[in-house]
Amino acid sequence: MTIDEFLGALDALDASALALIASASTPAELELARNRVIGRKSGELGAIMKALPSLAPEERRGAGAAVNRVKSVIEAALALRASAVAAGGVIDSARDLTMPARRQWKGGRHPVTVVIEEVEEIFRELGFTTALGPEAETEWYNFSALNFPSDHPAMEMHDTLYLGDDTLLRTHTSPVQIRTMQRYPPPIRILAPGNVYRRDFFDASHAPMFAQIEGLAVDEGIGFVDLKATLTHFANRFFGATKTRFRPSYFPFTEPSAEMDVECRICHGSGCSSCKNTGWMEIFGSGMVHPRVLEAVGVDAERYTGWAFGMGPARAAMLRYGLPDIRLLYDSDMRFLEQIAG
Ligand code: PHE
Repeated sequence: MTIDEFLGALDALDASALALIASASTPAELELARNRVIGRKSGELGAIMKALPSLAPEERRGAGAAVNRVKSVIEAALALRASAVAAGGVIDSARDLTMPARRQWKGGRHPVTVVIEEVEEIFRELGFTTALGPEAETEWYNFSALNFPSDHPAMEMHDTLYLGDDTLLRTHTSPVQIRTMQRYPPPIRILAPGNVYRRDFFDASHAPMFAQIEGLAVDEGIGFVDLKATLTHFANRFFGATKTRFRPSYFPFTEPSAEMDVECRICHGSGCSSCKNTGWMEIFGSGMVHPRVLEAVGVDAERYTGWAFGMGPARAAMLRYGLPDIRLLYDSDMRFLEQIAG
């Protein structure tokens, strides 16, 4: 017998046995059914198993597992039917009230995905489209074109995971700025969500892989006031009316640079452990695109200016849902995800 014939015979037995068991409506009938299907001497399953030694040795293990599977299905059906029959001879098997209820599993979107889609929607209304780039990048895209000198200490801020001499896992989504400006002339307004990688410990506020959303606008006559107005508008849309503040900061690829904070969602500014007692939570790194970055991709820095920002949607999800630990978002624990899936 071939393995296909063997499995076919098992399938056929499975179907006919279940029908036979379902049609038994007294204990005696059920006993007859049991004997016919899995009885020791003349059971149909036993007859099929006699063909096991004729199978190729490497096929026997899989065939044996299939036999066990069918056998346990049949035994479960017999046990279930036995209790139904004992409970008073159930006739209509389609309405067997002793059957356990089926659990309904419902799919949901991950909270980080929900945040990314919301951010995209808010910026789409402002004329931004989505751009994507590769997660494996070269040093030039990830650092050099973004005005990191090769020995600059800022490179240490990004503990980089290298894949080869010149290939690495991108440490931020800013290389998508470069790829976009290489391909499209201004005016540019893009949003670039994606995963980034850093050699970080996995603790309550750091993960070695996390999502970022980059934003870039390049046009004639745009300045810091546009950046500030846009990010403030975003914060009010995303969190509901909220206080914001800008602090000076530093990134090699923006000048001037600023970080934007929103009032702490947990304590509303009075200071708590989530905001390290500052009353504020950082959500954006941002700044005016450094002229050297424009020049690296051949954009005329005399004519055009640009502004850019980066945000962490996991951080935004933590603020939104009041989560104490970022690992909750990356552990894929269904008990947690089911509670907040969108
Ligand atoms: N790339 C920066 C980071 O990962 C964030 C950023 C993006 C800052 C764009 C300014 C402008 O930390």
